[in-house]
Amino acid sequence: MAISLPLNDFPQLSRDPARLPRHVAIVMDGNGRWARRRGLGRNEGHRRGKDSVRAVVEAARELGIPYLTLFAFSAENWARPSTEVDFLMRLFHRYLLTESKRLMKRGIRILALGDTERLPPRLRHVLAETVEATRDNRDMTVALALSYGGRQDVVSAVRKIASAVVAGEISTDQIDSAAVERALTTAAMPDPDLLIRTSGELRISNFFLFQLAYTELYFTDTLWPDFRERELLSAIAAFQMRERRFGGVTPG
Ligand code: IPE
Ligand code: IPE
Ligand code: MG
Repeated sequence: MAISLPLNDFPQLSRDPARLPRHVAIVMDGNGRWARRRGLGRNEGHRRGKDSVRAVVEAARELGIPYLTLFAFSAENWARPSTEVDFLMRLFHRYLLTESKRLMKRGIRILALGDTERLPPRLRHVLAETVEATRDNRDMTVALALSYGGRQDVVSAVRKIASAVVAGEISTDQIDSAAVERALTTAAMPDPDLLIRTSGELRISNFFLFQLAYTELYFTDTLWPDFRERELLSAIAAFQMRERRFGGVTPG
């Protein structure tokens, strides 16, 4: 059962796999402001944000984007009031429970990035189960960044590499970019081609650091609970207008 995308409104958008981003990463921001503008509590914004997650996952799958990373909770978000943190943890738990059938049906593999040890045991358990149950799905990979920090990821990669050197498994001159990539939690994925951040904030907030070296950045004022299929298509259409040079020059 395919969902219908409003593709007619984006005649310039190409569905050629060679022109689509292979990996889209999203900083899902603005839930609190969405709620405040409506006189609602912040958690109501998170609740609505969950509907955007479903819409964007389905749309990305339908378009044929192979990898999607969703930054759902940063290593620094633990500093929020415990009522909000608890609500978010329960929301992630519920998301995994209610979506798992749909994810299987759509052939979606779930990966978890971040310090999942810090998550409540109940959530950790369901997350591990979902990762295991979906591991052979091949149609799309959705990585959930939970308790994720870009610096922490780099630090942990440095530790792994240092241990391998100490153990005599590799020498220091074997440490290259590819070795670092392999030691990061994103080892199983290509670098993002497109980073989307909602809510008008123009910063990375300790999301992917190493991985964003040549990623195209797309910032939109739209708040995450309002970000749906249409906004994703706009971002991809904008991406397709970019000229990626990777430090080189374009002939002609
Ligand atoms: C993003 O929305 C969700 C998380 C960081 C978990 P926010 O909760 O950061 O919403 P704003 O930025 O306060 O509006
Ligand atoms: C970044 O948003 C983290 C996530 C969206 C999960 P924040 O709302 O935590 O970022 P800052 O605090 O505005 O930089
Ligand atoms: Mg925010």
